Amino acid sequence: MDWRLCLWLALLMLSSTCSYHNSRAVEALLESETGLLTRELLESARDAEFFDWLKRVRRRIHEYPELAFEEHNTSQLIRSELDSLGIRYSWPVAKTGVVASIGSGAHPWFSLRADMDALPIQELVEWEYKSKNNGKMHACGHDAHVTMLLGAAKLLQHRRDALKGTVKLVFQPGEEARAGAYHVLKEGALDEVQAIFGLHVSPFMLTGTIASRPGPMLAGSGRFMAIIQGKGGHAARPHTNRDPVLAASFVIVALQQIVSRETDPLKARVVTVGFIEGGQAENVIPETVKLGGTFRSITSEGLSYTRQRVKEVIETQAKVHRCTATVDFMDEKLRPYPPTVNDEEMYEHAKRVGEVLLGKPNVNLVPMGMGAEDFSFYSQKMAAAFFMIGTKNETLKSDKPLHSGHFVLDEEVLPIGAAFHAAVAISYLDGHVGTS
Ligand SMILES: *[C@@H]1O[C@H](CO)[C@@H](O)[C@H](O)[C@H]1NC(C)=O
Ligand SMILES: *[C@@H]1O[C@H](CO)[C@@H](O)[C@H](O)[C@H]1NC(C)=O
Repeated sequence: MDWRLCLWLALLMLSSTCSYHNSRAVEALLESETGLLTRELLESARDAEFFDWLKRVRRRIHEYPELAFEEHNTSQLIRSELDSLGIRYSWPVAKTGVVASIGSGAHPWFSLRADMDALPIQELVEWEYKSKNNGKMHACGHDAHVTMLLGAAKLLQHRRDALKGTVKLVFQPGEEARAGAYHVLKEGALDEVQAIFGLHVSPFMLTGTIASRPGPMLAGSGRFMAIIQGKGGHAARPHTNRDPVLAASFVIVALQQIVSRETDPLKARVVTVGFIEGGQAENVIPETVKLGGTFRSITSEGLSYTRQRVKEVIETQAKVHRCTATVDFMDEKLRPYPPTVNDEEMYEHAKRVGEVLLGKPNVNLVPMGMGAEDFSFYSQKMAAAFFMIGTKNETLKSDKPLHSGHFVLDEEVLPIGAAFHAAVAISYLDGHVGTS
């Protein structure tokens, strides 16, 4: 190692230790107050009666999963629980969504968000509360997200007089590919909210742990569908036709170069062709071939560049083969998701609350991932932090991946998530009195 680099590193370590000691007293004070509160919240949520209620709510939602923008029963259940807690709400927001409000109504306004929709997946787990809606399943844990947020609602409502502002609880429809968050924002439901926090269960992390990262966390994602138009005819006379099968083959190969030749190797992007459809007989050149896929990037610029290149590559490759192509990005039905970027201050805040709640060793740094999440729409509008919350327990074998028919949830996560939500909100308001 270069000696100047050594010296610089040594100085850096020294300076960070100093500021660490300086702020230590303040931190300790903060942590003792936050600590007491957070422990109280977790104890309340783990109380037998409270925990039983959480499990009942979650199992009820799990039994009747509903797809994006069809969450009528789920919405009804949420509203009736809010009614019995005496919490006011707006409804409908973006068709089936509910935005509840706890506190004085005064600023600052802080938001907590849970998504409500299930997936078109057949549940393969045999248990008492197995999905009763054939071909639909809460395989992405949104039943748990709603339950944890209702748990937080109950905890916050008990402490409503002590809230130094207002908490807006967003029960959001249509997270799975349907950009429900975009529609919630479009309706102006969160126009005056300053910051937002959201949780997602993870079967890859042990129950009792959480993880996130500052800055970019999840990819922006779009989809495309292309139709390559040729001229069909007998396979024995290719020169009289225009072969869309060959054109599609070149298109798929050429699309790979966008990532391998046009992207900085240190930046993350994906182009995947997920389906191809064309032709029916061995001896016929078909009229058209249809193909489609997804493109992703960890930055908005990367996403729009990739989108433009996907279109150009498909159209021009088709032309090389004397075919034509149309590319559809399905902006209305499958609106692209921007990257999920955590605000550094919000991230630090939630991380500190998590450390007090679960202990420092149980709060981890999650690597960036190329999955996408419509929480990103909130992160474009306000200070946002998105955290993963572990649900893995070896005894329960709750380590099956999300979006699998075998997905199992460790319900011990419910009180933890409820308390985490509530503690993040309360301490955010405490720290932002007088700002708006
Ligand atoms: C909605 O609830 C009703 C009454 O419990 C039930 O019969 C129906 O199957 C539910 N629908 C869905 C889509 O879950
Ligand atoms: C896993 O779940 C079992 C059964 O509910 C429980 O007894 C055990 O304490 C859990 N393990 C951990 C590490 O939380």
